[in-house]
Amino acid sequence: MKPVEVKKDIWWVGCVDWNRRNFHGYSLSPLGTTYNNYLIVDEKVTLVDTVDKKFWSRLKCNLAHVLGDRKIDYFVINHLEPDHAGCLADAIEYYKPEKVYTSPMGEKAMKAHFHYEDWPVEVVPTGTEVSTGKHTLHFVETRMLHWPDSMATYVPEAKLMFTNDAFGQNIASSERFADEYDSHVVEQSLKHYYANIVLPYSPMVLKTLKAIGDMGIELDMVCPDHGLIFRGDDVAWVMNKYREYVEQKPENKAVIVYDTMWHSTEHMAEAVASGLADKGVSVKIMSMKADHHSTIMTEIFDAAAVVVGSPTHNNGILPLMGDMLTYMKGLRPMNKLGAAIGSFGWSGECVKILNGWLEDMKMEVVEPNLKVKHVPTHDDYKSCYDLGVALAERIKEKIG
Ligand code: FEO
Repeated sequence: MKPVEVKKDIWWVGCVDWNRRNFHGYSLSPLGTTYNNYLIVDEKVTLVDTVDKKFWSRLKCNLAHVLGDRKIDYFVINHLEPDHAGCLADAIEYYKPEKVYTSPMGEKAMKAHFHYEDWPVEVVPTGTEVSTGKHTLHFVETRMLHWPDSMATYVPEAKLMFTNDAFGQNIASSERFADEYDSHVVEQSLKHYYANIVLPYSPMVLKTLKAIGDMGIELDMVCPDHGLIFRGDDVAWVMNKYREYVEQKPENKAVIVYDTMWHSTEHMAEAVASGLADKGVSVKIMSMKADHHSTIMTEIFDAAAVVVGSPTHNNGILPLMGDMLTYMKGLRPMNKLGAAIGSFGWSGECVKILNGWLEDMKMEVVEPNLKVKHVPTHDDYKSCYDLGVALAERIKEKIG
């Protein structure tokens, strides 16, 4: 894709990764992704972030397309993760910038990644301003959004903010702006990205949104480093979406996630789902053999209740459920009800183990946890159905 002038003298010079399906090694990106970076053409030409290392040649072409033989004076590195800083060493050697601006934690991360000796790095804590001529770069640290080094760069003259990972979505597209794309897909991708990348840092998101509000700035363009750019009315829309996400307000929805050996736990899951659905709760049954943990997490994100199911296996639970629970716990979901179900043959530890995970995640466990020897009886199915009904009642109380 050719560079696009997103505002006068401010260019998108990023790269589209159409084939990326595994984002950062743990989250699916079924629509691919982009590595957005930006160029401000001013008295001091400024490059904001780089791209994944495999796109170094394309980045050079994009920059030449806009600049011809002009040099780049300043680099701004908002985040050191390799999808953004992957070309930094090559770019410093090639362009020889006067300054490389980064946050205080960015300098530490830069040293740890690149082990450089003589780069012209200048640390820019929150509130620092740098003029490029007609534009000002105003830096705001956004620690843990997504790493300790993360920061955003606001350009008041353009009413534009480069937000790096914040407000990102994994969408590879020929379009550059959210208002040119299917709005439902944008919203789903924004939610998937938040639920799998940003969720544990929700308190920092809240702090950042407050800091942006306190700055009293005018903003009519939000430029993330992944996916589509938000402009006009979409700026308020995406800010409000993040405000909603921070709250993790539960919806009238339950997710049943399970693994099974000989289908007993699967059939128990279906019976629990019937009880929930008959009481008007929207239910998703998700098998670990059919769904990736990041897809499941996106559904859990706005659900009021999570039912986890596994048979007992070697005095524990099935390994794919161990994967799911480890992943979910790390993302620190809040405001959830939980319940545990599973079948067993002899030792029967499954629900005790599953319940322990739910308690570790501070979920309010709705009793009874149900375990069934070998194959459920009619009475066992009735107990599962009743658990679904009991969960539905608690969900109604919870969401008001
Ligand atoms: Fe898009 Fe934290 O990297």
